[in-house]
Amino acid sequence: MTGHIIGTLADIPLGEGRTFVVDNRQIAVYHLRDGTLRALDAVCPHRGGPLADGLIDSATVVCPLHGRTYDLATGAESTGGAPVRSHTATVDSDGAVRVILG
Ligand code: FES
Repeated sequence: MTGHIIGTLADIPLGEGRTFVVDNRQIAVYHLRDGTLRALDAVCPHRGGPLADGLIDSATVVCPLHGRTYDLATGAESTGGAPVRSHTATVDSDGAVRVILG
């Protein structure tokens, strides 16, 4: 399979995000409460806020600095601001988390 193994599912608490370096890029990987994963660029394009630290629900993350809200699936910003890139994050059968850059 392609992509990068970044750790295991246990590294990302349920309902939270963590930042990983993938191919020299900071990627925020989120563990949604339904058990699935999402991944976005980790740096908010507004003023560099740490998006892995933002509050998430099932569909969005809110930047902890000034509240821009990004779609976890597409990276689109809710008010039309600059988007972030979205990536693919999956869990292998052994619990390893794999990120494929988008
Ligand atoms: S740095 Fe993210 S909203 Fe300002």
